[in-house]
Amino acid sequence: MFNDALHEMTLSEDGSYTAYSKEYDEHYHSTKDGALHESLVKHVQPAFSLKEQQDEITILDICYGLGFNTLATLYYHQTNSLHSKLKIYSPELDASLVKSLVDFTYPKEFAIYKPIIKAISEFGFYEDEYFYIEVFLGDAREYVKKFKNRFDIVYQDAFSPSTNPMLWTKEYFEDIKRSIKDDGVLTTYSISLATRLALYENDFNIYLNIGEGYRDATVASLSFLKNFKTVDMQHKIACNPDAKSLRD
Ligand SMILES: C[S@@+](CC[C@H](N)C(=O)[O-])C[C@H]1O[C@@H](n2cnc3c(N)ncnc32)[C@H](O)[C@@H]1O
Repeated sequence: MFNDALHEMTLSEDGSYTAYSKEYDEHYHSTKDGALHESLVKHVQPAFSLKEQQDEITILDICYGLGFNTLATLYYHQTNSLHSKLKIYSPELDASLVKSLVDFTYPKEFAIYKPIIKAISEFGFYEDEYFYIEVFLGDAREYVKKFKNRFDIVYQDAFSPSTNPMLWTKEYFEDIKRSIKDDGVLTTYSISLATRLALYENDFNIYLNIGEGYRDATVASLSFLKNFKTVDMQHKIACNPDAKSLRD
């Protein structure tokens, strides 16, 4: 059984299950947007709209959780017949959660990834011709410091800034800036001004991710992205002079 003292499976509105964390008092995904749908529209699709032509795509998935962003990435790769090699690096503090994921009820779209889910659950690692997946059991803050100029994509999907502030501070995004390539793309569900400021203060350009059937989200990059609408941060700062980024 997946349900334990700290987690409860919850049906989300697209028909896929997510989980509720009793420890953080928060769901792993927006139950309204749907777990699978949220992964696809807020992370995988906007990132791959910019990167899918590359032969090799290196991804930082913050944090592994139930693994939806990683698995939705494999699903996107399969459904779009991509031939790129994917390298996914994902930290996760909760080792017992990762172990228990063999028992999680994933959507049918992930059925073919059962052997991958099992390998990650047992060894924290999977590799084949197309995919290299490494789940690091430990603190994301320490893990990201290892990488320099490495990632094409960063999925920033920690619990909310109010619940898990250490993964949203200016100093944290300084390390993310060091780890991402100059033309890399970061995706996040957070649209809070504090989050956008923490990115902006690290030289990220801020873009809107808006569409039908999901709540607005954010895309950020050190480069100019012509496919996304820019958020005018100078204007936001002028309208909200007291707004501040989170700090360590
Ligand atoms: C919102 S969930 C991630 C959802 C995940 N992306 C998915 O698709 O299922 C946040 C995760 O961050 C993990 N976490 C919290 N603090 C962490 C830290 N400092 N380092 C690594 N993982 C952390 C939690 O255990 C939780 O699993």
